[in-house]
Amino acid sequence: MRKIAVLNQKGGVGKTTTVVNIAAALAAMGQRVVAVDLDPQGHLTIHLGVDPETTEAGSYKVLTQSAKFEDELVGVRDNLWLLAANINLVGAETELVSVVGRETILREALAEAEEKFDYLIIDCAPSLGLLTLNALAAVDQVLIPLQPHFLALQGLGKLLQTIDLVNKRINPELKVDGILLCMFDSRASLPNEVKADIEQFLEGSRGTNCAWAQAQVLPVHIRRNIKLAEAPSYGKTIFEYERNCHGAEDYAKVAEFLHNGAIATKQVESDEVICEEAAVEETIEAASQSEQAASPSEPVVSEQPQEQITQPQDYPGSINPFKT
Ligand SMILES: Nc1ncnc2c1ncn2[C@@H]1O[C@H](COP(=O)(O)OP(=O)(O)OP(=O)(O)O)[C@@H](O)[C@H]1O
Ligand SMILES: [Mg+2]
Repeated sequence: MRKIAVLNQKGGVGKTTTVVNIAAALAAMGQRVVAVDLDPQGHLTIHLGVDPETTEAGSYKVLTQSAKFEDELVGVRDNLWLLAANINLVGAETELVSVVGRETILREALAEAEEKFDYLIIDCAPSLGLLTLNALAAVDQVLIPLQPHFLALQGLGKLLQTIDLVNKRINPELKVDGILLCMFDSRASLPNEVKADIEQFLEGSRGTNCAWAQAQVLPVHIRRNIKLAEAPSYGKTIFEYERNCHGAEDYAKVAEFLHNGAIATKQVESDEVICEEAAVEETIEAASQSEQAASPSEPVVSEQPQEQITQPQDYPGSINPFKT
């Protein structure tokens, strides 16, 4: 079983969206996949169409050792199982405070399932607390989703050092596999400059014994796509919600890359297509705004895309974003 934690302590960078859609894509490829919700917000649970209020909080029970991992899995799609979470998970951090070996509970719980699944993908909370530590102790790979703007890089150094510390002290298998650029807007030059900066930083670590020595910026990025922001409110993956959109195309490629180590067809990105999509997005946004204004009692899509990235006049390239 390949075990991957999708982690960035920064909020709203695309962790949950990434877990849902790569898990779904891998399951559609015939892989047996378990998606683990380790975030008390329960967003992964909701996004996969499961009501966190009425569901037993599987990850809470596993972490507090009151249930076995496999007994708590909920079958959510063909080949896809979920270890659900809800707000109860907040309590696990305090309940475990005096438990010896509290950072390796998940790792031990997973041992029995090792042969039964092909992939285990963990959606981490936007923090570096005990829940995340359990994720890092249990997996062998970390995938870091990142929004390519300057401030998003500020916490990356700290995140990498935390992973390195866990690698040295608790889990020698742990490696940072890749950085996935999410909500990418190739019309702006800043994302490409940030990407080049990260690549240069990673190049500088080759041959060292740090946990990110072999990490790469994935050759596929996830374009900003309104369909990805709409899908969670329907409890659907992007492939169920709108299979012919950039979001579905990009996540299918990421899953293909993770599984095969390569992608058969390069990500095509003509400006024309992007401009077309931007026009469609603007139309959808305008339509939904006027709809909301006309009928305020209509349900509102709860998950909105992040703010537009605006490019600063001068990219402060001389500032070292990896300094912690
Ligand atoms: N490529 C994208 N284009 C447009 N919107 C996106 C894209 N990826 C994610 N979103 C939207 O951005 C918001 C944040 O994404 P997501 O919930 O995946 O981030 P997260 O890192 O899991 O957040 P948190 O730290 O709160 O757990 C959501 O509303 C999601 O639907
Ligand atoms: Mg999330």
